[in-house]
Amino acid sequence: SNKSDIDIRNYYNVALELVMKCGPMIREGYSNADAVYKQKAAFFDLVTKYDKEIEDILVEGLHKAFPESKFIGEEAVAESGKVPELTDAPTWIIDPIDGTTNFIHRIPHWCISVGLAINKELVAGIVYNPIANEMYSAWKGHGAYLNGQRIHVRKCTEMNDAVLAYEISLIHAAAVRDKNVKRISKLAANSTGTRCMGSGALTLCYVARGSFDCYHVEDLQAWDIAGGAVILREAGGVLYHTTGGEFHIMKPDLIAAATPELAKTMVGLIKEADAMTDFTFK
Ligand code: IPD
Ligand code: CA
Ligand code: CA
Ligand code: CA
Repeated sequence: SNKSDIDIRNYYNVALELVMKCGPMIREGYSNADAVYKQKAAFFDLVTKYDKEIEDILVEGLHKAFPESKFIGEEAVAESGKVPELTDAPTWIIDPIDGTTNFIHRIPHWCISVGLAINKELVAGIVYNPIANEMYSAWKGHGAYLNGQRIHVRKCTEMNDAVLAYEISLIHAAAVRDKNVKRISKLAANSTGTRCMGSGALTLCYVARGSFDCYHVEDLQAWDIAGGAVILREAGGVLYHTTGGEFHIMKPDLIAAATPELAKTMVGLIKEADAMTDFTFK
């Protein structure tokens, strides 16, 4: 291994242990029926006190171990009102709870997600579902793991053999939502099944482990995707922009797929859906 490989492994090991250590606290939070929660800027944007607590623990621990670190964390951004620019510095991209609505509604499908970018490249990812006891992790060039066991995408190449995951972002105007509903309708009609799970990070891990074959979503944020992106790629999967172009972590409008063939088919179906005019939701 060269130097940067050893550095990345060190970052990865420390972060993995830190995330794992959050398990008991966040499980207790989840089991606490009175978990206080509130709306953020919008009625569909919920947050609990645990989101902030977990982010603080992670930032503090990672900063202590690696003072050169920078951070892009959901709750810090919510407080400051702006997303820091991604630089070449080692940057931890943190979602303390991905799937907060699930957390609040007692749906046991949410996770802690941490991604690491160095020189603007995603190099390590950790996604932990403490309820299912599932630790997904990967670092660049060394494969993806679920609880220490190698995972791989299912080498699905055909839409009509694929389980499709999707989400519809609520942050936009009706026209944008309708565009996405049209796309999902088109993609779903050609798939063997569709799922909407409420955690972008875990959805990428489900593609990585071969449970889902593809995923379409727009308007997510870097912290929803960073950890899962590394895990998906190391499991053999691919990520593109929804137009079929290059995927960018700071603007995750994305297609995730088990194979490039499947992604290409999705891009074609998305274009067909966008061209449909006889389809309206009131
Ligand atoms: C949400 C989840 C969800 C996605 C939402 C996100 P949060 O993140 O990733 O899957 O559909 O758009 O906001 O708020 O639970 O961290
Ligand atoms: Ca949130
Ligand atoms: Ca999230
Ligand atoms: Ca969150």
